[in-house]
Amino acid sequence: MKKLILGLLSMAASVAAADDLLQKAQSQFKPIPPEPPAIKEAPLTPEKIELGKLLYFDPRLSMSWLISCNTCHNLGLGGVDLQQTSIGHGWQKGPRNAPTVLNAVYNFVQFWDGRAQDLQAQAKGPIQASVEMGNTPERVVQTLKSIPDYVERFKKSFPNQPDPVSFDNLARAVEAFEATLITPDSRFDRYLKGDVNALSDPEKQGLALFMDKGCVSCHNGINLGGSRYAPFGVVQKPGADILPEKDKGRFTVTHTASDEYVFKVPSLRNIALTAPYFHSGQVWDLRQAVAVMGAAQLGIKLTDPETDAVTTFLKTLTGTQPKVDVPILPPHTKDTPLPVVEVTLTPQGTTPGH
Ligand code: HEC
Ligand code: HEC
Repeated sequence: MKKLILGLLSMAASVAAADDLLQKAQSQFKPIPPEPPAIKEAPLTPEKIELGKLLYFDPRLSMSWLISCNTCHNLGLGGVDLQQTSIGHGWQKGPRNAPTVLNAVYNFVQFWDGRAQDLQAQAKGPIQASVEMGNTPERVVQTLKSIPDYVERFKKSFPNQPDPVSFDNLARAVEAFEATLITPDSRFDRYLKGDVNALSDPEKQGLALFMDKGCVSCHNGINLGGSRYAPFGVVQKPGADILPEKDKGRFTVTHTASDEYVFKVPSLRNIALTAPYFHSGQVWDLRQAVAVMGAAQLGIKLTDPETDAVTTFLKTLTGTQPKVDVPILPPHTKDTPLPVVEVTLTPQGTTPGH
């Protein structure tokens, strides 16, 4: 009898602890809703989304006709390129790792250093960056205007505008498409919605550690990140291989000393799909990235089992990937400016990236 009561008591205690964990998690994180969020450029019409999708996949937005947004943000690969740092126009290597476009709509600013306010401002960058798509706004507009199907689609997406085929509207359409690139229904989201069996015990231990050790102070909210800046190396600066000295992060935007080596806290959603890690792309192993974070941001050495548990938890953040049919792009015409693959090299370090 005594045994039974003790058994019941300990069961009740573990149920209470499980409730605690869920409640604590619900106070720190939010699940991704099934529908895309509202964006500034409302409404998100089907025409605009479809146009944005064509543009996202169209390599003719690049000087060489070889590089599209999808080259570096491959929607079959979790929205990344699996490169340490991206390779762009003329095989040039850019300075930073490509973050995923998935759920980027939920980030408070875009880019590692936050230099674009939103996806619309962001989209104009890569097309012009000499190490990425290497094109000019004028040439892109000329290209789009030479293709009747695009002209028609811009008219339908931006009705009542006298000159709808513009670089600004291109960015608006791409933003509309990107807003649909969300990944709801990860196992962690199901857990947050109250399905306590959606996570295994080791995954729950990892979640508890993630909160108790302090990862959650930076990686919280709907994206487990993407809501603030933080220095990389709050307690202990990582080695120059992982944190190269010449990329000073947010400092390059604000020129404020306290912004040296400050970066946007990245989202951890779909993190299992988006190696290599950090803005330098120097760490391929998620477990190692977790260990680096413990030391650099919190000044703690996570034990091996702790590191494993947190890593196991992070793998539950992979959501349902957006289902995107590869679009058939409208053909070019005799008026379309032809591809140029030769590269005019800029001196190292002077290229702004995107
Ligand atoms: C040559 C590779 C390359 C191409 C092409 C490219 N990107 Fe990127 N993208 C990157 C890299 C690298 C970064 C990070 C740059 C930085 O932070 O300074 C980035 C950042 C982004 C971000 C910010 C995400 C975040 O969390 O901060 C978005 C959104 C994005 N790109 C969308 C696009 C779109 C849309 C296109 C097409 C118009 C595009 N990219 C073309 C490599 C590329
Ligand atoms: C003080 C804020 C802060 C804390 C605390 C923190 N992080 Fe981070 N985290 C960051 C920043 C900033 C980056 C981006 C670093 C860079 O590449 O410049 C990052 C990057 C990461 C990455 C790589 C993401 C990617 O896409 O490349 C992982 C994984 C990660 N953190 C996990 C953790 C874990 C696990 C903990 C707890 C052990 C933790 N973080 C604690 C701020 C923080």
